Amino acid sequence: MSTDKITVSGPARQSEIYVKGAMGAKPIVPFDPYKLEQAAKDKMNANAAGYIIGGAGTDETIRENRSAFAKHRIYPRMLRDVSQRNTSLELFGDSLPAPILTCPIGVLEMIHEDADKAVARAVSQLDIPMIISNQASYSMESIVSEMDGSTRWFQLYWSKSNELVESLVRRAEKSGCSAIAVTLDTTMLGWRVQDLDLMHLPFLRGQGIAQYTSDPVFNNIVAEMDFGAESMIVPGVDPEEFKAIKAFTGVYSRPSITWEDLKFLRDLTSLPILLKGILHPEDASLAIAHGVDGIIVSNHGGRQVDGAIAAIDALPRVVEAVNKENSNIPILMDSGIRTGADIFKAIALGARAVCVGRPYAYGLALAGQQGVVEVLSNLMAEFELTMALAGCSELSEINKSCLLSNN
Ligand code: FNR
Ligand code: LAC
Repeated sequence: MSTDKITVSGPARQSEIYVKGAMGAKPIVPFDPYKLEQAAKDKMNANAAGYIIGGAGTDETIRENRSAFAKHRIYPRMLRDVSQRNTSLELFGDSLPAPILTCPIGVLEMIHEDADKAVARAVSQLDIPMIISNQASYSMESIVSEMDGSTRWFQLYWSKSNELVESLVRRAEKSGCSAIAVTLDTTMLGWRVQDLDLMHLPFLRGQGIAQYTSDPVFNNIVAEMDFGAESMIVPGVDPEEFKAIKAFTGVYSRPSITWEDLKFLRDLTSLPILLKGILHPEDASLAIAHGVDGIIVSNHGGRQVDGAIAAIDALPRVVEAVNKENSNIPILMDSGIRTGADIFKAIALGARAVCVGRPYAYGLALAGQQGVVEVLSNLMAEFELTMALAGCSELSEINKSCLLSNN
């Protein structure tokens, strides 16, 4: 598999596609984001489609994550010399080619055997930062070994065992992660009717728990657990795997976590700490008061609270709250990003960068590493073209005045 670096330029990518087309090539992944989802769905088995595409309850928040973007229209300006465009930025000391990172997505082995490793190779080619999931299909060390020095962060689920939290953070540090994103909105899984209908949860099949089974503290927890005769009761399940699954369900997450607990993490590491899952402006103010280094506005892609506010609706409120605290911490956003125009709108509403979620997983499902490269390259190209055609050459020129908003 290629690890060659790829520099994406919007117009050059567009020409390349048309030229290849003239020579008879067909797209590797659909360009239309809805066709992309449909094509990936057609390729996945029912359990994977339920888990990856599905949301909580009636999927109202999934729909809202999309429809809320339509409240903002881009208001293009003309005659502004957009011949030179710069989409790059600095984030926590790392240079990014575009305001794009990949969301942490767990259990990618359901859709491709290389899972996070294929994603790592793809993002490394593009120099896009990867947020490695706590529920990945491979250990963070083996994911990082696929990367060519490109930026990576670690996403942490706060375990019931602080010793395990510490071990995961230390491993992230050693793996060269340049930030820790603590996901706050998944202390319990949301009520996901597609998974419930299938009576299927990947973790109980031993999928998505590689960060745990590769961890010495976790393995001690397993060794010290008293399983009694329990390992006998699941027919066909390897007793050792059963023990790991059982221990995982015991330590996965601590719903009693409060703001006070953040101090433990702050004292543990000097890496920047971001909170993922902030939606309410008062939580944004509390985040500042507790000394965090960044916020990811997110509703977990509508997978947690059906009926929750759209992430793009929460973003300006969070930005306002952070500004009120006279803080300049970066605010990122995910949940519903499907196009370059969405990225433009999020930046205009105050996001420093966005995290792309399901679309890259769809690329992975359809064409592995190359599918991820294609999806991310398309988003980068479309964003750059949108920015230029709206009259902006630099990210700093993208602001609220570039939008006509109706909410
Ligand atoms: C996620 N998400 C997620 N978030 C996280 O912090 N850790 C994780 O392990 C996962 N796992 C995960 C699995 C799957 C299948 C999905 C779809 C999502 C949430 C993810 O980081 C992000 O918030 C959403 O994907 C954003 O929504 P969209 O844009 O993908 O719809
Ligand atoms: C999910 C967890 C893994 O959304 O974040 O399924």
